[in-house]
Amino acid sequence: FKMRLIIEENATRVGEWVAAYVVQRIKCFEPTSFRPFVLGLPTGSSPLPTYKRLIELFNKGMVSFEHVVTFNMDEYVNLPRDHPESYHSFMWSNFFSHIDIKRENVHILNGNASDLELECVEYEKKILSFGGIELFLGGIGPDGHIAFNEPGSSLSSRTRVKTLAYDTIVANSRFFGGDLAMVPKMALTVGVGTVMDAREVLIIITGHSKAYALYKCIEEGVNHMWTVSTIQLHTKAVIVCDEDATLEL
Ligand code: GLP
Repeated sequence: FKMRLIIEENATRVGEWVAAYVVQRIKCFEPTSFRPFVLGLPTGSSPLPTYKRLIELFNKGMVSFEHVVTFNMDEYVNLPRDHPESYHSFMWSNFFSHIDIKRENVHILNGNASDLELECVEYEKKILSFGGIELFLGGIGPDGHIAFNEPGSSLSSRTRVKTLAYDTIVANSRFFGGDLAMVPKMALTVGVGTVMDAREVLIIITGHSKAYALYKCIEEGVNHMWTVSTIQLHTKAVIVCDEDATLEL
């Protein structure tokens, strides 16, 4: 087992570190027509500096996403796909529209599918059809959730429908004009088991609001109330955090 903790000065530096790492991983990988580089991606404010930096590196000709396939972690249920706060909109406006990724290589759960359970099962199958995820990037909520695996989630959970915790609804209400009533109450999310199946997991943790969660993640035991702590069991995991996030260590 090997878990690394990288501490950078601030969120911008974290983004630079993570972007450089992703580029290096993409470049070292030799894609074939049946086995592309499969990248798992998160939304939220934590990965934004990483996406910004990846776009800069793409514009400088230092990386291409032509042979990269992506799977996003989660999506709200019943929020129109073109709603500005849907994770579809987030990913296209903050990342995909600025790089050379092929549209058919982008996978995001459809929170408006008529059969949500089936959508989740198909998503898992699709991941497997590409040979699994090579590198899963993730963020965490202040309550230590990874993707939308809220406290109490099974550590072997797969992609499924999840009711959001009250704390998450409050945390995410900032994107919905501060109005709790406007925040979707359910989401589709990859499971803890889905994340753990990736050959490598990289978690971005920035800001003092995540300090206690980082402490729970690395200084205490594996705990289903802090689902990110499961990465202690992963054979290749790296946490990249800023100094503010280390306040409780
Ligand atoms: C949501 C997402 C998580 C993300 C979290 C933290 O709950 N489902 O995947 O990690 O927000 O977001 P932020 O990075 O904005 O703090």
